Amino acid sequence: MKVLQVILLVLFACVEIHADELLFPNADFEQGTLENWTAEGEAFRIQPTRGDNTSARNREPSNLQGSWWIGGYERFNGTVGEPGATAGDHLTGTLTSREFEIKHPYITFRIGAGHLPGEVGVRLLVDGESIDLATGVDHETMVMESSDVRQHIGKLARLQIYDTATGGWGHINVDDFRGTESPAPETSMDFVLDARVKPSSYPDTSYDQPLRPQFHFVSKKNWLNDPNGMLFDGENYHLFFQHNPNGTEWGNMTWGHAISQDMIHWKQLEHALLPYRVDRRSGTIFSGTAVIDHNNSLGKQVGDTKTICAFFTFAANPSFYQAMAYSTDGGFTWTYWNEGRAIVDNQGFDQGERDPKVFWHEASQKWVMVLWVQQNPGRVRWFTSTNLVDWEFASDLMRDWAFECMDVVFLPVDGDPENVKCVIYDASFDYEIGTFDGKQFHAETETLQNVRGNYYAAQTFYQAPDGRAVQIGWMRGGPNSAKLFDVPHNQQMAFPVELELKSTPEGVRLFCSPISEIETLVAETHEFKNLSLREGVNPLSDLQDLDLVDLEIVFSPGEAKEVVFDLPRTQLRYVAENHQLLCNGVTESGERREEVCLEQFTERDGKIHLRVLVDRLSVETYAFGGEAFSANYISPIDQETLSIHSLGGTAVIHDLKIRELNSAWK
Ligand code: FRU
Repeated sequence: MKVLQVILLVLFACVEIHADELLFPNADFEQGTLENWTAEGEAFRIQPTRGDNTSARNREPSNLQGSWWIGGYERFNGTVGEPGATAGDHLTGTLTSREFEIKHPYITFRIGAGHLPGEVGVRLLVDGESIDLATGVDHETMVMESSDVRQHIGKLARLQIYDTATGGWGHINVDDFRGTESPAPETSMDFVLDARVKPSSYPDTSYDQPLRPQFHFVSKKNWLNDPNGMLFDGENYHLFFQHNPNGTEWGNMTWGHAISQDMIHWKQLEHALLPYRVDRRSGTIFSGTAVIDHNNSLGKQVGDTKTICAFFTFAANPSFYQAMAYSTDGGFTWTYWNEGRAIVDNQGFDQGERDPKVFWHEASQKWVMVLWVQQNPGRVRWFTSTNLVDWEFASDLMRDWAFECMDVVFLPVDGDPENVKCVIYDASFDYEIGTFDGKQFHAETETLQNVRGNYYAAQTFYQAPDGRAVQIGWMRGGPNSAKLFDVPHNQQMAFPVELELKSTPEGVRLFCSPISEIETLVAETHEFKNLSLREGVNPLSDLQDLDLVDLEIVFSPGEAKEVVFDLPRTQLRYVAENHQLLCNGVTESGERREEVCLEQFTERDGKIHLRVLVDRLSVETYAFGGEAFSANYISPIDQETLSIHSLGGTAVIHDLKIRELNSAWK
């Protein structure tokens, strides 16, 4: 016992002798001044800053030591400014220390803010050399950094904190420069959520603005893009989506979350997956998919509730990787697997590889991941796994059309369960039909396309009941509706479509038609048969109050040059000469423009079959039961008279159904 005590005492004494120490007085800024430091330029004039000012302005905590530190974005030095006041990213300058002797093998310090190597950071000036020690982490919270300076022991040196960057993250946070005997322990703040993004989902926002879409999914507030993690859990459909909780433009990518029992009436919940930082890398949550872990492959199931695993792209500098979060309570709370670290690391082809699609492959009893990893040449990489976290390379599918948001879906041809095919498609809905052998896709068609307009980044619900494949796409590219149309949101989803493979004279093709659940919205149906569209005939003459419409028509253009549909807020024109259907679209900057929704839209047996969904800011058109379709944003028109009429000759309406729809928000 005595011997042990002596050993411990000796050890303790050694540690004492070589105790960490400040590199020089005020190397921790605790004098509250820049004593022993020289500021040049503007970036460090009103420094050091006092207190946790990043928290004071609602950002992640600074993790300062003591009371004072260098916070390049802050503008509060105890006398000038106030807590939470900001200086911005645009200021540049250097802060150089007085000379000190290097006595310890390591220099440790805290560092945060911009990850901009060579532009913002800390360097050591020694022997006429400038040695870069560290840059920030794209996160305000400072982490511990250690530099090995053994080869410079005994030399005189200076520290220089520098900031030459003027754009995003163009500032640096530092504190507490010490000489130490060993590297600093890894910071305990490895995983932190980005404090800018709050999980709340806008409890006070309504859907009743005059131009708010009424049967299309929109976020209660702010920006939305791709659908993510769509799945059916046995009771509810879940729709996660790319979301900016802080504004109506793209940014701060987070997975928003909504649930529904019929894919039409949605209830938006708290945001599900939030941007975070881990291992000094900050990133946001890009697109991906989710699965129900039916056989508890992950081993995390609690009780009878199956675990939901959400696979997403961690969009961090300098390159993206794929990560996973899981929920054991049906999608309401989430744990980031291994604190959000990679389950599939960047494959080295493209820094922006993204959007993992994961599904269970029954025949091989494996999980499969499909990932877009390269453009030019386009490369889609397939992996397999038995536990949802260790992924093994399976094959590469080289396709130049492939770009972002791959999805894979298995569908019977003409409803025949003995003839199931694999369909693979990307964000712009180029697709191929073929088979999948558990490792590799084998194409049986050329590359096909069946959508136009603003439809993008669609995916299908995982495990939809009755083997259905229901898809939702984001309507990309409309103007900022919050700015233009006095609504609190920007961007919308297209109406859900059912996917089917059907034989056509050209071969097997993918058909997309609005899901039959739309019937739950029908308030009234008006039906017309065998009408000659002569001058003065207007089937809509008694329906001038139409607002939300599901219209289905079989007509023959006959001698007419055009058949014109003046519908609420929108006009469609069927132009016989070019076999096109045109609508009043809108550019991203808000200008109205005529767009082709359907082309090569030619009569069959003299007839044309068209279905049209009209909401407040969009029109969707489907040809011949969904053989082709288009989802278009519109620039709303003040229609004087609603009508269907022909120009330059008489057309015939064989069958016309106009279903007036109720709002899905009521
Ligand atoms: C497609 C996309 C995805 C990405 C996401 C980011 O619209 O670019 O590839 O994950 O948006 O919001």
